[in-house]
Amino acid sequence: MNILKKIKNKSVIVGIVGMGYVGLPLGLAFAAKKINVLGFDLDEKKINLLSKGKGYLKHISDSKIKKAVDSGYLKATTNFSRLPEVDAILICVPTPLTKHREPDMSYVENTSKMIAKYLRKGQLIALESTTYPGTTDELLLPMFENAGGKNKFKVGKDFYLAFSPEREDPNNPDFTTAEIPKVIGGVTPQCLKVAKALYDLVIIKTVPVSSARAAEATKLLENIFRSINIAMVNELKMVFDRMNIDIWEVIAAASTKPFGFKPFYPGPGLGGHCIPIDPFYLTWKAREFEINTKFIELAGEINTYQPYYVVERSVEALNKFKKALNGSKVLILGAAYKKDIDDMRESPSLKLIEIYREKGAIVEYHDPLVPVLPKTRKYNYDMKSVKLTKEKIKSYDLIVLSTDHSIFDYKLISDNAKLVVDSRNAFETRGIKRKNIFKA
Ligand SMILES: NC(=O)c1ccc[n+]([C@@H]2O[C@H](COP(=O)([O-])OP(=O)(O)OC[C@H]3O[C@@H](n4cnc5c(N)ncnc54)[C@H](O)[C@@H]3O)[C@@H](O)[C@H]2O)c1
Repeated sequence: MNILKKIKNKSVIVGIVGMGYVGLPLGLAFAAKKINVLGFDLDEKKINLLSKGKGYLKHISDSKIKKAVDSGYLKATTNFSRLPEVDAILICVPTPLTKHREPDMSYVENTSKMIAKYLRKGQLIALESTTYPGTTDELLLPMFENAGGKNKFKVGKDFYLAFSPEREDPNNPDFTTAEIPKVIGGVTPQCLKVAKALYDLVIIKTVPVSSARAAEATKLLENIFRSINIAMVNELKMVFDRMNIDIWEVIAAASTKPFGFKPFYPGPGLGGHCIPIDPFYLTWKAREFEINTKFIELAGEINTYQPYYVVERSVEALNKFKKALNGSKVLILGAAYKKDIDDMRESPSLKLIEIYREKGAIVEYHDPLVPVLPKTRKYNYDMKSVKLTKEKIKSYDLIVLSTDHSIFDYKLISDNAKLVVDSRNAFETRGIKRKNIFKA
């Protein structure tokens, strides 16, 4: 039976490669619609947990996973020789930057090599990982067309290839994977038709575009839009601070304009797997066309500076109390890159720890969602989240709010802290205004 017929009668089997922040919710969305899913990952720990119906991401409950696994619709394996069992393969592996800030395509390439090794006729492959325009056509297509011998597989006939970017927003209660419209670009019209039919089974609305490149560029536009707008408010924050104007008050007032304005908020710097990284995929590709992406670079510069700015404001705040940062006891509140999640990839808190330490401070952190700081590619802190008691709070010379988690006891902290530097306006948002709370 061909794949379109299988999609129509819902007997299609969906393989997902990379069961992380993107792959896991996607798998759950298909399983919830009674579509068989086989998740693939190199990480045995994740696959073992999944197979037992257990989770590993804080914002996705064990009960949700157990339900999908018990129903028999969600299975997982580390055995890639099972790839021919599935009809569609959705690639959700990481696309980070190398230490020279260039695209690290090794995960996508390794996955594609594995898929090419086991490719069978009639399969659909859709790349979901964020990447530069041209990846699907230039990197993936030749690997699959030449799988098993030169030009053995013809795209659009023997297999189907598409790009469909993920728009996951972890822990956003307003949108689940199935409720977020999905852009799809096929390598051929038939590829688009097959990919659209598959995603239409689970996604509220699919948005076809003319090519895989257009879909790749769409995802980058979305993330560059965020990066640049965040950089703009970060710059305005620094200017307004100097003028003694509160950026948060200004944004709230501007947000009352019913058209032509969308609020973005300043903070201690960018974090997560997407916004600090993805724009530079375009910067890299644009060089091939002899074009510099000036907006992207400028936004990167301003956003990268933000943790340093928070530290500068801390020095000023301590100075008002006749204290030096050198030798001060500093607590970083929040290690995750955004509120109410456990993901600390690229978190500005990690950079803050580094800078405060460089300046001679004794640094600890508190984040119940990140009880220990895992080793990252850049940092290897041997640190555990400290427990916060009244006495403990009093023991710090400075408390720096980096992530505005809802679980923090803001009253307890502000009642007992000597000095607070708040990079998210988290205290005032909760009605707490004090002379010893400085915004940064
Ligand atoms: N996290 C988000 O909110 C988000 C949102 C939109 C888009 N994206 C994009 O989606 C992609 C995946 O991001 P993520 O956050 O889910 O990453 P992740 O690290 O949470 O998950 C990736 C998974 O892939 C696995 N993996 C790595 N190499 C593999 C291989 N060769 N074969 C099989 N599995 C492999 C890893 O073990 C991991 O479990 C990235 O391109 C990212 O930019 C992420």
